[in-house]
Amino acid sequence: MALTPEDVPVATVTDGSRVVPLESGSTHFLTSEKDMIKTLLHECLQAKEFAYCPYSKFRVGAALMTKEGNIFVGCNVENACYNLGVCAERTAIQKAISEGHMNFRAIAIASDLEDQFISPCGACRQVMREFGTEWDVFLSRPDGSYLKMTVDELLPMSFGPEDLRKKKVFSVHNGC
Ligand code: THU
Repeated sequence: MALTPEDVPVATVTDGSRVVPLESGSTHFLTSEKDMIKTLLHECLQAKEFAYCPYSKFRVGAALMTKEGNIFVGCNVENACYNLGVCAERTAIQKAISEGHMNFRAIAIASDLEDQFISPCGACRQVMREFGTEWDVFLSRPDGSYLKMTVDELLPMSFGPEDLRKKKVFSVHNGC
């Protein structure tokens, strides 16, 4: 049975993002893994409701949590000029980065696919990887079940910002 956003708990709204309330007795900002998953699943289902996908009719929602506990949500935003469409994951990541947050703990993704865990596209995997390889991606199904994977598992042997700083065999003289 497909869950509605109301089936999972709501986080409190603060500024542009949402901050998950501290668990009672907690002395740090991190919520438990269980609470984090519940919250992100709720948030990505909710975000999916705003998907703008008149062309594909394929709704996707994403919810990203920072290590500080802020949540940024996103949906896919398509365009009549088809190649300008943006995925839900990248919408959420760009919202976070543009508001000064880049330490990511996890992202959850939701779609309407009945039997399948929604799998992030290659472009989104590379954009996730820009911000580290060892953080979690929750691929969910409408019934609330999910697969937990790391960015590294989704994009093994990846190329990232560190590679640009590695030793090269020669220095270039063409302005690069
Ligand atoms: N889509 C996402 O938003 N995330 C993904 O990881 C897979 C695909 C969107 C892009 C497009 O708007 C629609 O789904 C169909 O490809």
